[in-house]
Amino acid sequence: MIRPATIDDAPALAEIHVQAWLETYTGLIPHEVMAGITVDARERQWRFTFEHDNAVLIAELEGKAVGFSSIGLPRETGADIELFTLYLLKAFQGRGIGRSLWDAALEAAKARGAKTLRLWVLETNPTRGFYERVGGMLEGRKTDVVRGVELIEVSYLFELTRLEGNT
Ligand SMILES: CC(C)(COP(=O)(O)OP(=O)(O)OC[C@H]1O[C@@H](n2cnc3c(N)ncnc32)[C@H](O)[C@@H]1OP(=O)(O)O)[C@@H](O)C(=O)NCCC(=O)NCCS
Repeated sequence: MIRPATIDDAPALAEIHVQAWLETYTGLIPHEVMAGITVDARERQWRFTFEHDNAVLIAELEGKAVGFSSIGLPRETGADIELFTLYLLKAFQGRGIGRSLWDAALEAAKARGAKTLRLWVLETNPTRGFYERVGGMLEGRKTDVVRGVELIEVSYLFELTRLEGNT
C-alpha cells in the first residue's frame, strides 16, 4: 500500500496535493493564497522534488493514489532531515494510513542516517495533534509571507532513536 514514488507519479501527486490542500486549509488560509495552488504548479514542484535529493512515499488503495509523504535536506540547521509533506485525502483519514505514511518517511530518514527530523506545520492546523501523538517536541515558530499574507507556522522536532517502540 505504501511504496516509493517516482517522477512518473508527479501528475497523480499533483492532483491529490491540490485536493488535500483544499480539504485541509479552506477556512485556515485566506482565499488569495489558496487561489495560487493549481495542479500544473504542483506538478512542476513535484518534478523539481524528484530531480533533487528527496524521498517521496505514496499511499495507494486499489491502484489509486490517496496520500503521500516526502523528506529531504532540511532548510534550517539543527535537524538532519526535514519532513516536507504528509497529506492524506480526507475520505481515507482515520484508519491508520497516515501513520503508515509517517512510519515509511521515518524509515527513509533513518536509511539516510538521520537521527533528528524537523517539520513545519501551520499553527492553526489540527494535524498538530497527530504530530504530538507520534512523539513530536514543539520547537520553533516563524512567520512566512505568501502572496502578501502572513502565515504562522510552528516546528516539531523528532529524535528518531527515541521514537523506536514509543509510538
Ligand atoms: C495527518 C494525517 C496524515 C493523519 O492521517 P490519518 O490516517 O488520519 O491518521 P491515523 O489514522 O494513522 O492516526 C494515527 C494516530 O494519530 C491519531 N491522530 C490522527 N489525527 C490526529 C489529530 N488531528 N489529532 C490528534 N491525534 C490524531 C489517531 O487517533 C491515531 O492514534 P492511535 O495511534 O492512538 O490510534 C491526516 O490527518 C492528514 O492528511 N491531515 C491533513 C493534511 C495535513 O494537515 N498535513 C500536515 C501538513 S504539515
